[in-house]
Amino acid sequence: MHAAACTASCTRGGEAIILHIVGARPQFIKLAPVVRAFRDLSLPYKVLHTGQHYDYTMSDLHFSSLGLADPDFHLGIGSGSHARQTARMLEGIETVLVAEKPSCILVYGDTNSTLAGALSAAKLKVPVGHVEAGVRSFDKGMPEEINRLVADHVSDHHFCPTANALALLQHEGITGTLTGDVMYDALLQTPPEDLSHPYTTPFGIVTIHRAENTDAQERFHAIWEGLRLIAKELPMLFPVHPRTRSAFGELLRESPPGIRVIEPVSYFTMLAMIRDASLVITDSGGVQKEAFLLGSPCVTVRDVTEWPETVQAGANRLSASEPEALYHAAQAMMGRRVVLEENPFGNGRASSAIAEFVKGVYN
Ligand code: UD1
Repeated sequence: MHAAACTASCTRGGEAIILHIVGARPQFIKLAPVVRAFRDLSLPYKVLHTGQHYDYTMSDLHFSSLGLADPDFHLGIGSGSHARQTARMLEGIETVLVAEKPSCILVYGDTNSTLAGALSAAKLKVPVGHVEAGVRSFDKGMPEEINRLVADHVSDHHFCPTANALALLQHEGITGTLTGDVMYDALLQTPPEDLSHPYTTPFGIVTIHRAENTDAQERFHAIWEGLRLIAKELPMLFPVHPRTRSAFGELLRESPPGIRVIEPVSYFTMLAMIRDASLVITDSGGVQKEAFLLGSPCVTVRDVTEWPETVQAGANRLSASEPEALYHAAQAMMGRRVVLEENPFGNGRASSAIAEFVKGVYN
């Protein structure tokens, strides 16, 4: 929907603001370069944090280390079942939208905060822009896939990170705008002096938190067994997401000497670790891309990936959760550096392209 067509949503006579809606760790990282681009163009904006992530290491740490101001609105929603968490967000976001009347909102990625933001705004006829539109895993068993599908189909503006995402959206009858990936912008904007970590010997890095890997006990146990095998040859660092810690705290406390379980780290520390790791093992979407962009080999413990570009480039390999499969995938990828021939994630100016688009329509 074009700004001129909006009804109850437009701020009339006053300053039209754009509202960024975020709630989970990867969204704070994506938000940072976009608000920087907004500031460069003197575009007025406010930030709403749903409170989906609330632990210091999942939220405040990122706001402070990324130089983000405190959010203008914090809903403090916290954890809950998908329905409960999303319902509480819908209600809280609606209240803010009615009071603030933003000219447009932006949602990021594929979390429950993305879904709730897009849906609340669409129902109030507030135009929605989706950052990271068109990305698909084609696995509707993943909550993230449902969130992406709904967000794309109720959004008015679709900012696609890759040509593949743009084409996938086209297949669904939606015309997007190819901007590049804001995560690449975030990575490029990181000051080199911040890219350090305390580890000097060769190591691998692991992150596992997706529902598909942590909801079923047997599946996580199989992954853990695989990690134990790999750790006999390459010591592994495992910054543990709270979901994984709350489900498998006991197991993690008994980690073998080769697996060092640590708290979640800052974005900059994570980038530095990924860059210097001999192997990355993950089920995160963002970490797959970061490994690719930093030239580090990656094994993704999933049946499908929404980032096929990384696999096609030989930088990423999917693995089943069985210990031997994971071990063999790790063996195949370990130490292999990937030289980027072409970068499907853009030129590092995705955030500026989004801000310029928004300025063109709403300012
Ligand atoms: C969410 C996103 C996922 C994204 C991930 C990034 C959805 C459906 N999933 O998953 O796509 O990759 O964020 O981290 O939105 N918890 C805490 N403290 C926190 C946050 C979570 O203890 O700060 C615990 C709670 O027990 C909660 C569980 O983690 O029940 C899961 O949190 P939730 O926000 O539902 O999903 P994530 O697994 O973080």
